[in-house]
Amino acid sequence: MRIGVLSETKSGERRVALPPEAVSALCAAQDTTVTVQSGAGRHLYASDDDYRAAGAEIAESAEQIAAGADVLAVVNAPEPSVIAALPSGASLLGLLNPFQESRAMFAARDQGVTAYALELIPRISRAQSVDALSSQALVAGYRAALVGAELLPRFFPLFMTAAGTIPPARVLVLGAGVAGLQAIATARRLGAVVSGYDVRAAAADEVRSLGATFVNLDLETQEGAGGYAKSQSADFASRQHAALAPFVAEADVVITTAAIPGRAAPLLVTEEMVAAMRPGSVVVDLAAQSGGNCALSKPGETGVFNGVSVWGGADVPSQLPVHASKLYGANISAFIALIKAGDMADEILAGSRVTEGGRFVHEAVRNALAPDEPEPEPARGSDQPESQSPEPTQAPETTEAPEAPGPSDQSAQPE
Ligand code: NAI
Repeated sequence: MRIGVLSETKSGERRVALPPEAVSALCAAQDTTVTVQSGAGRHLYASDDDYRAAGAEIAESAEQIAAGADVLAVVNAPEPSVIAALPSGASLLGLLNPFQESRAMFAARDQGVTAYALELIPRISRAQSVDALSSQALVAGYRAALVGAELLPRFFPLFMTAAGTIPPARVLVLGAGVAGLQAIATARRLGAVVSGYDVRAAAADEVRSLGATFVNLDLETQEGAGGYAKSQSADFASRQHAALAPFVAEADVVITTAAIPGRAAPLLVTEEMVAAMRPGSVVVDLAAQSGGNCALSKPGETGVFNGVSVWGGADVPSQLPVHASKLYGANISAFIALIKAGDMADEILAGSRVTEGGRFVHEAVRNALAPDEPEPEPARGSDQPESQSPEPTQAPETTEAPEAPGPSDQSAQPE
């Protein structure tokens, strides 16, 4: 198998799909060669010579690498011209953002490339080793806590000194998925008193297991399919804002990580709520690029409103490129092992496969990008999975569709 690794070109991107240690492990297999674009590891301080030492060849042009690849490993979807250089039947593998990157997806389809979007991997236990969304969310959550500590003009931990006692900072984390839980754990390690909130009932125990307090708002849980939250009605959102407001006003740092697959991020912190925070307080919004959990956040910017700093995250995992790439490279290596194993009906491969044989084979992507394209024939006999679309999937629209509130939350008790 010939694997190609590109130097990422998207603005703000500092990661690489396979760092040298992952290349070294792949090259240990006799049937595998890796070609890396010159400079691909520069943000990791990994030189071309480091890659050569790991067993890779170095090439200058992305198109040249693509032309000789059976598998092209990327972080972001490459330019259509690079995809068009891949041999028909080759695989493209990365966080392809298929609903937004339509030009790349059409290029893959038209070239007969088999494109796998890691965002679409079904969230099953077996998929944890390939789950790039989780590995990158962990990086973002850690970074969010550090940003909060950095922007706050006071200590996080309790200090009892000869010069007086300093109480610990109060950190509130809204959204307790992978990123939120990591933000909680990191803020706790820094010594803050931390509380967390989420609309999923299971999150309460996870928050408490990290030594934080779960904020119970006495609202219905909002459970969707696959362990995700479902989109919430306007009525729920306004009751949630009213219930959250006093907790936000009390916090020194509010870290927001709430997301709903396929939808704009829910608004959790309104302008009025920011205005009610103490001057010097901080809001860190990890959802700024997907619509924003805070009404005032802008991706990549830090605004100050009545003395409250509002940090909008942009390309947050790229801000820690060494370990973001290490974790991502492990995900990519595990995925390549699945491709090598060759079971195309594997639930993970089938669930994340967007294009194959000149067709869109992922139902949700086909419906979004090429609704007139006929459904592909079930090609592989009886072992073909019934559904290739993990639910919920991303959808192209970023507007929230109201849904009815879910059942009452019996599991999250006040503390
Ligand atoms: P995510 O990135 O989609 O969303 C982040 C968090 O925001 C979620 O916990 C969600 O419940 C919460 N949220 C949404 N709307 C909210 C609102 N209005 N207010 C407060 N919180 C809100 O979620 P992520 O991090 O991907 O994880 C979600 C769940 O997915 C996990 O807890 C787990 O159950 C499942 N999962 C499964 C994996 C596997 O089996 N391979 C891997 C990772 C996650």
